Amino acid sequence: MPQFNDTELTEAVIRSFEETPNPRVKFLLEELVKSMHDFVRKTDLTLDEWMYAIDFLTRVGQKCTPTRQEFILLSDVFGVSMLVDAVNHREREGATETTVLGPFYVGEHKQMPHGTDVSPPGHTGERMFVQSRVTDLKGKPLANVPVDIWHADDDGYYDSQRPGYLTEGPSLRARFVTDADGRFFFRTILPCSYPIPTDGPVGQMIIETRRHPMRPAHVHFLVNAPGYEPLITHVFIEGDKYLDSDVVFGVKDELISKIEHHIDGVMPDGKPAKGPWHLMTYEFHLRPGAGAAPKPMMAATEAA
Ligand code: BEZ
Ligand code: FE
Repeated sequence: MPQFNDTELTEAVIRSFEETPNPRVKFLLEELVKSMHDFVRKTDLTLDEWMYAIDFLTRVGQKCTPTRQEFILLSDVFGVSMLVDAVNHREREGATETTVLGPFYVGEHKQMPHGTDVSPPGHTGERMFVQSRVTDLKGKPLANVPVDIWHADDDGYYDSQRPGYLTEGPSLRARFVTDADGRFFFRTILPCSYPIPTDGPVGQMIIETRRHPMRPAHVHFLVNAPGYEPLITHVFIEGDKYLDSDVVFGVKDELISKIEHHIDGVMPDGKPAKGPWHLMTYEFHLRPGAGAAPKPMMAATEAA
């Protein structure tokens, strides 16, 4: 009967994975075991603390639903999502910066014609026109590229957080396909800064550790052109008071956009503005490469 002291135990567990057929899986499991064992040794973790951690992770899992991903939220607030992003995008070569996907991406969005107003009926938000262009690193326009966009409303909620989402359908999310000049544009409302959900174990941890739960205002973009690295990013609104303290550490200077304020009656597509409006203009530059666009963990339709 083998018996192990605390370092021999780590070696024994690593040996137990010796026959793992996939070398990458074997490597990841070995390193995970080493890091977890190091953590236990370094902290002299007590049984109570370990049981608390197991209970916490159980509650994180129980909070997940087809439209709520508490594990992504946990990864985000621990900075793990941004670290995974950083180690996978060390070479930029002028490509647009990347940031977190976040838990509110629900999969391929419904394609809409350029200029569509994606705001929800009866909203009270300030109007915004978004105009954008997708190019390669040399500025060559990329045509026919699907771009998924999504953002929170002027109360700070995503459509998928609303009780009626599965029956009423999406708002403030859509897919646009770039034209021959790489351009797309749409109408929406100005997003505001918002708290990540605080009604679950992750939000509770944020509150109990005296962190604030806020994300600065932004619009999400997922640009997925064949032959190029999929681009997962946000465009942040300049001047937001949370740009320096995003709860998920997702802000990069290059992703902050100046928003122009207009009172004139005509929007860039020549249609009447019906009141004051904001203009967001941002170009995305893609790096050659490959890779599949992320799939949401759980498609919203699974709940239907
Ligand atoms: C978001 O921007 O949608 C988001 C990202 C990370 C955590 C929570 C929300
Ligand atoms: Fe967001």
